[in-house]
Amino acid sequence: MSADVPPTPAAGAPDDGEIAAVRERLLAFYDARRRDLPWRADTDPYRVWVSEVMLQQTRVDAAIPYYERWMQRFPTLTALADADIDEVLRHWQGLGYYARARNLHRAARVLRERHHGRIPADPDALRRLPGIGDYTAGAIASIAFGIPAAAVDGNVRRVLCRLYDLPDPTPAELRRRAAALVPDERPGDFNQALMELGATLCTPRTPRCDDCPVATWCRARARGTTHQRPATGPARTVPEHDVGTAVVRTPAGRLLLRRRPEEGMLGGLWEFPGAEPRDGETPAAAAARAARSCAVRDPIPDGALGSITHTFTHRRITYHAYRFRVDAEPAAMVESRRRARPRGTPAGEDDAVAWVELAGLDAYALPAAQRGIVGMLEG
Ligand code: ADE
Repeated sequence: MSADVPPTPAAGAPDDGEIAAVRERLLAFYDARRRDLPWRADTDPYRVWVSEVMLQQTRVDAAIPYYERWMQRFPTLTALADADIDEVLRHWQGLGYYARARNLHRAARVLRERHHGRIPADPDALRRLPGIGDYTAGAIASIAFGIPAAAVDGNVRRVLCRLYDLPDPTPAELRRRAAALVPDERPGDFNQALMELGATLCTPRTPRCDDCPVATWCRARARGTTHQRPATGPARTVPEHDVGTAVVRTPAGRLLLRRRPEEGMLGGLWEFPGAEPRDGETPAAAAARAARSCAVRDPIPDGALGSITHTFTHRRITYHAYRFRVDAEPAAMVESRRRARPRGTPAGEDDAVAWVELAGLDAYALPAAQRGIVGMLEG
């Protein structure tokens, strides 16, 4: 593949000849190796947008079923804008980082109200929408509208760091490098070729340089630094938290859920009530306190259920789940909670509660760890 070009790439900035050759090789690689993915069936901007946001959360294989379910339920931007946020969150359930789903929904409403329901082509206009940053704007502009904009995600970053032997470039430097490469013709295919190269050949630990279409120009390969590019920082330690979680069951088998506040982590999702133990408090006592904060006056301890740890971006939480019983059915309890609540109290974390049968939990958007607790109940 590389017999016709010099074995050692020139140091420094690529010249026009190199840029032209890299473009040609990458587009040929894409034409030969592109995967047949549902969002590649056309370049509808709404479909491109949704797929790109999902792909920031998960791998291509894992995204496909989410994408297909989403498109069945919200086939157009208008369908998404019209939908209830609960349903949107439910279709995002399992992908994590729910702010992305909220922003998709918010942006769909902004577009419906202020842009005649049309997604703009201009990257600057795209970036003004909720949840759209440099990457998503570049991906939509290039893939859906054929605009030569850079789109640097984690895979593209790795490819560029190796191609130019950059240990730890700033985002601006990477965007500049990427922008210099993106061609006027087929910019979307070119960006996806870079993504595809990073996902399939130029992988973090076992790069397959012998099969790489641009190995000839790869500075890191020439200098033997491939495995050090990009440089990795020290392992990040995330703070650890414990939460005592109450799984409260009524005599008829209904379970208590509460809805998290709109803003903040996992905003708007439902969960079994939980609280971090205070000084000297056991997780079981914290769980009972959380149940009481949802106006369950006398939660009767009914044994430990199990623990489950979930790592979020900035913290790791272990949920210690405990069973509790109550001896009355929900209506009375919810009413007593409402009565107990002083008028004018601002909406808080116990603002919304629901008593739900095990079989009815699917109708609620629950974060992954809470689904894990449901799994323990079913097991
Ligand atoms: N990762 C992010 N966007 C992608 C795309 N359009 N194709 C392949 N991988 C991707």
